[in-house]
Amino acid sequence: MLDLIARSAFASGLIFAAVFSGEAAADSGAALYAQSCERCHADARALATSVRGRTTADVAASLEGFLSHHHTDSDAERNQIVDYLTGLRG
Ligand code: HEC
Repeated sequence: MLDLIARSAFASGLIFAAVFSGEAAADSGAALYAQSCERCHADARALATSVRGRTTADVAASLEGFLSHHHTDSDAERNQIVDYLTGLRG
């Protein structure tokens, strides 16, 4: 039990560190996705390509709007996830 608590504290520390260090932006988007979205949307790429929009900016705006009331806790978290998903559309 203690071991489990220690491990999850370590894992949240990692996610925290990733979110707040600029150079890990892509990684933290992926980590946040894994933490907040993956249990319901297993295939991130399929989800990313299902969002309609003419340009990447359109898609990002649409995702920003939708995610403001769909399983995200903060603007920072939402931005990271939107960057991650728009990046997957290639
Ligand atoms: C508890 C399950 C659950 C979680 C967690 C969840 N979603 Fe969803 N999501 C759904 C369901 C169900 C729908 C379809 C119904 C709706 O539109 O609300 C959906 C719809 C969507 C859509 C619209 C897809 C489309 O083609 O219109 C997007 C984009 C999306 N989710 C992104 C996310 C992201 C990003 C996260 C993580 C921050 C997330 N979801 C977390 C269940 C979930």
